[in-house]
Amino acid sequence: MRFAHGLNVIACAAIVNCGNRAGAVLPYLVLFTPKFFDMSGMSKTYDVCVLGATGAVGETMISILQERSFPVRNFYPLASSRSAGTKVEFRGRDYTVLDVAKFDFSQCQIGLFSAGASVSAEYAPKAAAAGCVVIDNTSQFRQDKDIPLVVPEVNPHAIAQYKQRGIIANPNCSTIQMVVALKPLYDEAGIERINVATYQSVSGTGKEAIEELSEQTRAIFTHRDVVHDVYPKQIAFNVLPHIDVFMDNGYTKEEMKMVWETQKIMEDDSILVNPTTARVPVFYGHSEAVHIETTHKLSAAQARALLEKAPGVVVMDERKPGGYPTPALEAAGKDPVYVGRIREDISHPRGLDMWVVSDNIRKGAALNSIQIAEILIEKYLS
Ligand SMILES: NC(=O)c1ccc[n+]([C@@H]2O[C@H](COP(=O)([O-])OP(=O)(O)OC[C@H]3O[C@@H](n4cnc5c(N)ncnc54)[C@H](OP(=O)(O)O)[C@@H]3O)[C@@H](O)[C@H]2O)c1
Repeated sequence: MRFAHGLNVIACAAIVNCGNRAGAVLPYLVLFTPKFFDMSGMSKTYDVCVLGATGAVGETMISILQERSFPVRNFYPLASSRSAGTKVEFRGRDYTVLDVAKFDFSQCQIGLFSAGASVSAEYAPKAAAAGCVVIDNTSQFRQDKDIPLVVPEVNPHAIAQYKQRGIIANPNCSTIQMVVALKPLYDEAGIERINVATYQSVSGTGKEAIEELSEQTRAIFTHRDVVHDVYPKQIAFNVLPHIDVFMDNGYTKEEMKMVWETQKIMEDDSILVNPTTARVPVFYGHSEAVHIETTHKLSAAQARALLEKAPGVVVMDERKPGGYPTPALEAAGKDPVYVGRIREDISHPRGLDMWVVSDNIRKGAALNSIQIAEILIEKYLS
């Protein structure tokens, strides 16, 4: 699905409302997804629920469970009473969406949660107490010391701590793609400081935000008033330097999540992180201009070589027009974290600059959760 095609934005907006992003790119996914384990030969199967099954992340979780042949025995799509009774498709069969408030979690061994922090606050402990290990996509538990915060390419060993509360937290989308790209550089040369500016797509806010960008785009092209509801200002043809609530220190919570989560996942509280997060009128895929100061000098060529063999990373770094990754054309609907524009910082002796792009709904949320689930069943539940 490509959105960067001249002024044909109305057609693009129509596509985003009805397009199936996963189907068109399946061969590519099989090629590039870092599978930590091959699930196809597994004999043991698991009862799995997806909470938030009708949302942007939940729908993608369902397609990825299918794509990666996750060994699901019984499948339970859950949401609120609003969409209970509607149908979702999984492995060619229609399943009725169930109201989470009436669901008995003892029927499941694994719960993939993406229905918002307050919903997880209420139901994740209940599910865990019933024996269902929860992999939670919301911000509710990420900073709890006894809950692991996991990116499989970076700290898979942390999954072992799930036993403490039966919950594993999935990091914020902007943090995930950044740490996947930085981990190999950190291991080689250390990182003292990260300066990052993000360019985050509207799908990071969920389905209503995707609709808001589509509708505002249509309104502008048809000379109607632009209405905003999800965002505080018009997002179509605009950039908002604000994601999540403002904190007392002037940063937004999205920015502070990048600080806290990076330190927790990298297991290094000494890494300094200075983020600015912005929302841009892109449907799928977050981009980040990442500037790091390493402990030991690392050349651009060394960094490129390390990234080329890093799990989950695709380097696209030709120093010519178009020789870099973009959200709409390279990342949307695909699994890797793409890295380009790798260069030495002319303002710092140990500085490196790069451009990091990934699909926020896939690696930034659904895929990362399912990779965690794959390790969980292979190493801990089998
Ligand atoms: N989008 C991203 O890139 C991204 C990345 C990482 C994490 N996340 C997190 O994942 C969560 C969901 O995001 P999304 O983008 O998928 O949002 P979304 O498209 O708005 O979907 C929200 C989902 O949650 C369900 N839900 C809402 N309130 C509920 C309630 N009280 N009880 C049960 N289910 C309820 C909705 O069900 P109904 O149909 O019944 O309303 C829907 O299935 C959020 O916490 C978000 O921060 C999102």
